[in-house]
Amino acid sequence: MPLVDLDRFDFLYSERVKGMKTAATRDLMATLSRPGIISLAGGFPDTRAFGEEAFRAITGSIAQDAAQALQYGPTSGLEPIKDVIVEVMAAEGTPARQEDVFATTGAQQGLDLIAKVFLDEGDAILCEGPTYAGALNAFAAYRPRIAHVPMDRAGMIPVAARETLNKARKQGLHVKFIYTVPNFQNPAGVTLVTERRRELLEIAREFDLVVVEDNPYGMLRFEGEPLPTLAALEQEQEGVVDRVVYLGTFSKIFAPGVRLGWVHAQPGILHKINVGKQGADLCSSNLSQMMIYSFFQNADWRAYVGCLTAMYKERRDAMLESLAEFMPKEVHWTHPEGGLFVWATLPSYLDATAMLPRAIARNVAYVPGEGFYAGGAGKNHMRLNFSFVEPERIRRGIELLSEVVRERMELRSDLERGSQRGARRGSTRSASFASGTDG
Ligand SMILES: Cc1ncc(COP(=O)(O)O)c(C=O)c1O
Repeated sequence: MPLVDLDRFDFLYSERVKGMKTAATRDLMATLSRPGIISLAGGFPDTRAFGEEAFRAITGSIAQDAAQALQYGPTSGLEPIKDVIVEVMAAEGTPARQEDVFATTGAQQGLDLIAKVFLDEGDAILCEGPTYAGALNAFAAYRPRIAHVPMDRAGMIPVAARETLNKARKQGLHVKFIYTVPNFQNPAGVTLVTERRRELLEIAREFDLVVVEDNPYGMLRFEGEPLPTLAALEQEQEGVVDRVVYLGTFSKIFAPGVRLGWVHAQPGILHKINVGKQGADLCSSNLSQMMIYSFFQNADWRAYVGCLTAMYKERRDAMLESLAEFMPKEVHWTHPEGGLFVWATLPSYLDATAMLPRAIARNVAYVPGEGFYAGGAGKNHMRLNFSFVEPERIRRGIELLSEVVRERMELRSDLERGSQRGARRGSTRSASFASGTDG
């Protein structure tokens, strides 16, 4: 086979695309599908739970409307799917009206459209530190400066957010929005407490910003009480939808393969998003929308979410128990009350990126923390997914991973010199702005 010259057209590529990187997990996919590997790396919901019969029932039920399913549709989505979205949002306690929702090709497209609508090169945004790597990728195309606001067990720290915004003002940066994943965050598994949700809204008002609330996991709660969304709190306080742009998705409560999500926002913002989406893909798939509509109309979708939640809870428990059993005491991790991920913190002298090939050689994989920051922090962290692997294999995977960590710790004195420089310091104070293209 001739060698492929990947740099062949470098002189023609845009500056934008030169700075963009593929997500570590996407690059790893081929390796991770190797038989024998226990992958705690993906972010996959377990679509095996859905089953052939249920799938057949859905596809059969839309066959009579084949012509519409195979046709283009309105850019903002079919009317019936908007009713489903309103119902799902209401089930999570967020009042929504049909005219305030807009269907997108996954929440991922929502992130891209929001960046397209709000960001000029050099504008700044605030994200949690760490944050969803796919959001960093989407934002990077618009070349913003990104500040990661530190989190603790209660989510993003408002004092730090405020300090960062003051600093940005002094630097003359134009901050456009705060991006948050408030429930069972990807990657940290942490949930933003209600008081801080209120504070974040207050900060957004004070600095006149938009808040992008990305909530794919809210309905996957294993324990504790559901918390109000920022979108619900804003409506409760102001009586209108204003500066909160809410992103939802069917990926985690139904299936990611249908690629359908939504934006709930103020009409002016939705109008801009509509223009942006026309240039991106004209409309989301009618076929997907009709499949979802059929399932949500004819089946007990709440029971299906309940079944997913029970399955993931068992797997989360298996992960937390095996971490406690096998990991060295110097390793710490989060205790998510829902969602798909645990975030583990290694001693600061360990580099999870450098350790990954060792782990894969031992047949276990995770995502190194670095990809969840713009600008190179997070080296001594790992994201561990528990939704896709059965409990027994999770146990075995954590046991193998613990052996790798232990080995690396035993080499501590050798590693310390090289790794400590890059390790993240656990500051809870204001963050500095990195170029989004680093992430
Ligand atoms: C926080 C977050 N936002 C958005 C997405 C994208 O989801 P979708 O499948 O709806 O595009 C994901 C996917 O894992 C996610 O974790």
